[in-house]
Amino acid sequence: MDHFQYRDGRLHAEDVPLERIAEAVGTPFYAYSAATLTRHYRVFADAFSDLPATICYAVKANGNIAVIGTLARLGAGADVVSGGELKRALTAGVPANRIVFSGVGKTADEMAAALAAGVMQINVESEPELALLNRIAGERGVRAPVAVRINPDVDAGTHAKITTGLSENKFGVEWTRAHQVYADAAAMPAIEIVGVAVHIGSQITELTPFRDAYLRLRDLVAMLRADGHPIARLDLGGGLGIPYGDDGAPAPAPEDYAAVVRATVGDLGCDLILEPGRVLVGNAGVLVTRVLYMKEGATRGFAIVDAAMNDLLRPALYEAYHAIVPVREADGADEPAEFDVVGPVCETGDTFGTFRPLRGIGTGDLLAIRTAGAYAAVMASAYNARALVPEVMVNGDAFAVVRERIVVDDLLARESVPPWLAAAEDGG
Ligand code: LLP
Repeated sequence: MDHFQYRDGRLHAEDVPLERIAEAVGTPFYAYSAATLTRHYRVFADAFSDLPATICYAVKANGNIAVIGTLARLGAGADVVSGGELKRALTAGVPANRIVFSGVGKTADEMAAALAAGVMQINVESEPELALLNRIAGERGVRAPVAVRINPDVDAGTHAKITTGLSENKFGVEWTRAHQVYADAAAMPAIEIVGVAVHIGSQITELTPFRDAYLRLRDLVAMLRADGHPIARLDLGGGLGIPYGDDGAPAPAPEDYAAVVRATVGDLGCDLILEPGRVLVGNAGVLVTRVLYMKEGATRGFAIVDAAMNDLLRPALYEAYHAIVPVREADGADEPAEFDVVGPVCETGDTFGTFRPLRGIGTGDLLAIRTAGAYAAVMASAYNARALVPEVMVNGDAFAVVRERIVVDDLLARESVPPWLAAAEDGG
């Protein structure tokens, strides 16, 4: 359930008509609903309330500090994958001892920053990374709290670009090598083994892959404990899928996911870390865009809108489906009509949806691209010299711009002409 609903034929974010935000900030823009974030966090947290679980929101899904801060105030920790995300989480008020630092390619500087902040856990994904972390922690005179991310070789059944738990993927240490890697880690003076981590992919809409991965994890914990390692914490990753509207697969409920966790690893006496991203924020955002032109093609009609693939990359990159709805509801008199909704970027991939039923829309109308709270604004680029659109958060009848529009002049201010070109221009 989300808080983007029609009232009197106008799509609202909570109590605010999206038209009013469009007037205030221009289009395109992202709008997030604080009530939806809150609801999704509570449903997820309630599902795990009888387990010793810390919910570390995966900041990569939406790194806006207003989003992180909303979740942090409800009790969420954070899962971060870069020094930048660490800074965002700390800035938004997440206590360092509720932050997990994950990621396959941490730099020495990022490790030092994580240790200086005092994060709860660093998830290590390779032996060379373990060796470097041992050195960096040793230099600082501290021990790094480490979980090794194990690749369980389980097919998450999701899009190939977002599956991570197969042996062919770059992530984690092969589970068959865990015995050796933990033995190496135990021998390193500045490494403190605290647990094991897994994460098998994203937008997973079946529970079986989770069950398979967690059962494998269970066996691994028994083996590692038999080897003498103190495994006190299991990081179960994120990945729970969500419905993307009419076309999407139904997604499991958090309580059914929690039941799988309970049944597979609930009795191991471990503290648990969960790293949900999409399931908390995905349905808490929309991208609002204005129709620039209606165009009749030979085989179909196009609605050319002012948002583009640089603003929301998911359809172009993963053929992802996002529902697209008019901000002003069609009235009964409008004829049924279908359009391809496309952006102005010079690529055919710049298509948000094909043959979408959008009765009665015309030039100047606003459309909302739904389920744009996760992996949307964070994946934006400035391609075609289109700078970054604003993000707005709504809370009841109030709204606030939580990231200003970044304009082309902001980008140009960071560019310069090299001296030899400048000299040529001066006639030199
Ligand atoms: N933990 C780790 C280690 C991860 O790599 C990820 C996501 C998560 C947690 C959160 O997963 P979630 O609960 O959000 O599924 N850009 C893609 C999704 C990439 C996911 C990357 N890792 C998309 O737009 O679908």
